[in-house]
Amino acid sequence: MTTRALLQLLLAGLAHACFGAENGAQLAQQCNECHGAGGRSENPQVPSIGGFTEFAIMDLLELYASGQRPARPAQLADGTETDMNAIVRSLAVDEIEAVAIYYSEQQWRPHLQAFDAALARRGAVIHARKCAKCHPKGGSVPEADLAITAGQWREYLETEFRNFDAGTRPMTAKMQRKYETLSAADKQAIIELYVSAGDF
Ligand code: HEC
Ligand code: HEC
Repeated sequence: MTTRALLQLLLAGLAHACFGAENGAQLAQQCNECHGAGGRSENPQVPSIGGFTEFAIMDLLELYASGQRPARPAQLADGTETDMNAIVRSLAVDEIEAVAIYYSEQQWRPHLQAFDAALARRGAVIHARKCAKCHPKGGSVPEADLAITAGQWREYLETEFRNFDAGTRPMTAKMQRKYETLSAADKQAIIELYVSAGDF
């Protein structure tokens, strides 16, 4: 091993040791400007993320870093415009890891929103057949290591479904095969299921 490589290894180790839980909370302050205190969003266009697993958040952030998931422009509290692609690219790997750990330690609290119970029940049947293998129990299980969808904001969910439909947000081939079998009415029913957080 060269001296340079050894030095890089030592520095990486040092950085890792420094970015503990405290640092995660500090770094997350900038995220919380949009995602809300503890990652519980007050803005229906911004997803709640507090309570996702560390793995889920790392995975989602990786998609923004690589550009596979193009982000929408969003405003910081002072009015500055930025987006998730730029935000993730401004962070070091250790920092991404630290914020992911911070949000995984928060509690998921579903947003209580009005919903159509009959439609949600219909959505549950379709979802169990086509989606639950990867998103168990209506997308309410953090350990599935994906974004929690049960109790997520309706407005955000509707936008993501539109992005999936338009192809502006790519999905994995296995999800796409199932997703393409859904009618517009099926999609509405599944959104209703998510919004209900299973409480029907
Ligand atoms: C300027 C506002 C803003 C800031 C700051 C911000 N985000 Fe986001 N974030 C968004 C918006 C809006 C979306 C969803 C739309 C999109 O894809 O652009 C999003 C999406 C996400 C998602 C995907 C959630 C899901 O359900 O798919 C994760 C994870 C995330 N952000 C984490 C973070 C972290 C960690 C930080 C801080 C390092 C952060 N965000 C900072 C606005 C912001
Ligand atoms: C083979 C596993 C798999 C199946 C089946 C699957 N998904 Fe997914 N889903 C994923 C993965 C992986 C992601 C996140 C990564 C990404 O953005 O590509 C995701 C993301 C999502 C998201 C975005 C959540 C967010 O906030 O980021 C929604 C909504 C969603 N899926 C709905 C569905 C629906 C509806 C079905 C059934 C028709 C379905 N999925 C079937 C694997 C699957």
